Amino acid sequence: MLKVAFIGWRGMVGSVLMDRMRAEGDFAGFEPLFASTSQVGQSGPDIGMEIPPLADAFDTEQLAQSDIIVTCQGSDYTKQVHPELRQKGWNGYWIDASSALRMADDSIIVLDPVNREVIDNALAGGVKNFIGGNCTVSLMLMAVGGLFKQGLVEWMTSMTYQAASGAGAKNMRELVSQMKTIGESGESLLRDPASAVLDIDQCVLDAMDSPGFPVEHCGGPLAGSLIPWIDSAMESGQTREEWKGFAETNKILQTDPVIPIDGICVRIGAMRSHSQAITIKLTRDVPVDEITEILGAANDWVEVVPNTKEDSVRRLTPAAVTGRLTVPVGRIRKMNIGPEYLSLFTVGDQLLWGAAEPVRRMFRIALAHLG
Ligand code: HSE
Repeated sequence: MLKVAFIGWRGMVGSVLMDRMRAEGDFAGFEPLFASTSQVGQSGPDIGMEIPPLADAFDTEQLAQSDIIVTCQGSDYTKQVHPELRQKGWNGYWIDASSALRMADDSIIVLDPVNREVIDNALAGGVKNFIGGNCTVSLMLMAVGGLFKQGLVEWMTSMTYQAASGAGAKNMRELVSQMKTIGESGESLLRDPASAVLDIDQCVLDAMDSPGFPVEHCGGPLAGSLIPWIDSAMESGQTREEWKGFAETNKILQTDPVIPIDGICVRIGAMRSHSQAITIKLTRDVPVDEITEILGAANDWVEVVPNTKEDSVRRLTPAAVTGRLTVPVGRIRKMNIGPEYLSLFTVGDQLLWGAAEPVRRMFRIALAHLG
């Protein structure tokens, strides 16, 4: 029976992966081994069957017995363990949610509803490293992949509104703590219907400025504010997150020549769903109803939302999509700049299609390929 090792299954992305695997009945047809970097020997997760105690995630002798390794442990782990395994001659499939190997020449970024052909060719060609993409990129491609496929994108900008989850679990907790601190500071004024709103506003500002305001992880106020910087600086003036939009999209699609993509990535006070306002310069003037049809037909999860206030408020928000696999795309219209300029807005759960789901599906594809 095929052997599969799971690492990093307890963290935020890993937990979502485990939930999805349980929901889809994925724990069948292989022998699972759960490994840990810190809790060796303890019990693994409940997957509805007997499993051995947790193995040591740094024991490359044991891991090398796996046909497939699925890791959500993060880049540092990948950088340490992956080369060691390959040096040992391990030739199994490495399926990884972290960014460490994304741009490596011998890896493929996986998003099968968009690049299944690229994945199948890579499997046939002997590629062994299959890596989940950046969340913003994956969600953008789930939403507008149809337009890329039809060769309709000359260039694109993506202005993002990224949730706290993209920065990690601690940032989500801190966001809620910030909300609590702000809420408490304004509580007595809020209770008084006669209080002046500018006094409430001042109260919020004072709370944000106070030395006790929690900013250790976010770096500044996210609740009641935003942070227009995600990840490290690049020489180009972009942040790394902005650079990934260009580099990863073109790698996922294996475009030649590359399609210019750029934008500004912004962290906002949403919990776990990323939004993006997208401008596309089309390669030709295509009517909006045809665009809508192409977008909606691209995969089973994209959902076109009519360009009305009611639909946008109800269906096109982080609160509406969190915990769901659907990727709504709305506000679709031609811009007054010209008939080839398309504008739209999309939202998606950062932990589902943004992280765990492409990895889960790649695991199924690899398993089927080996079986
Ligand atoms: N880098 C993304 C973010 C999440 O900071 O929101 C991971 O893809």
